[in-house]
Amino acid sequence: MKFFIDTANLAQIKEAQDLGILDGVTTNPSLMAKEGISGDANVIAHYKAICDIVDGDVSAEVIATDFDNMVKEGEALAALNPKIVVKVPMIKDGVKAIKYFSSKGIKTNCTLVFSSGQALLAAKAGATYVSPFVGRLDDISTDGLALIEDIRLIYDNYGYETQILAASVRHPMHIIECAKMGADVMTGPLSAILALLKHPLTDSGLAQFLADHAKAAGK
Ligand code: E4P
Repeated sequence: MKFFIDTANLAQIKEAQDLGILDGVTTNPSLMAKEGISGDANVIAHYKAICDIVDGDVSAEVIATDFDNMVKEGEALAALNPKIVVKVPMIKDGVKAIKYFSSKGIKTNCTLVFSSGQALLAAKAGATYVSPFVGRLDDISTDGLALIEDIRLIYDNYGYETQILAASVRHPMHIIECAKMGADVMTGPLSAILALLKHPLTDSGLAQFLADHAKAAGK
C-alpha cells in the first residue's frame, strides 16, 4: 500500500519523507490556501518545492472547470516536473480532460469522488488514480469505507488499472481498513500516519527493557 501525505505544509512533508515511508503527496486548493500560498507564481514555486522534497507522485489540482482551461492548466502543471499528477474534479469536463491527459501520457488523479459510478467513469477515462473521499462520506453518516470496497470489486471485475487512492482519510483505523480492502494508496494527514506507530504495550515494553538493562549494568 502506498502512503501519500495530504498537505501542502513543507515541514510535514519533509518529516514524512525523512521517516522513509512516504510514496507521494496530495494537495488541493484548500490545503494550499491553508499554507498561505496564492498567486500563480507562488503556487508553481510551491509545487516545485514539494517535488524537490519527495521521491514519488505529487498531485496538483487544476482550478479551471471547463475542458479547454483544464487542459491548459494541467499541461502547464505536468511540465513542471515528471512527479506531477494532474488532479481533476469528477465533473463532465473533468472526465473529458482525464481522457485527454491519459492519451497524452499525463498522469491524473480524479478527485471529489463519492460514488462507485463516478469511480467507474474515472477508470474508463483512464485516470491514473481515483480519489474516493472516505472521511467526508463518514461526515454525512454514509459509510466511506464501503465505497472503497465497492470500487475494489468493480475494478477487479474488469481489470481496470486505475489505482484506488483512499482520500479524506482522518485516522489510523481508516488506513488499516483501507489496507484490508485493498486500496492501492491512502492519503491522509501526518497525524494519522504517526498514530500507526503508537501502542501502549510498545511504550511500556520499551520502558521495561531499558530499566532492566540499566539494572543489570548496576546503574
Ligand atoms: C484528497 O486528495 C483531498 O485532498 C483530501 O484527502 C480531502 O480531505 P479532507 O476531507 O480531510 O479535507
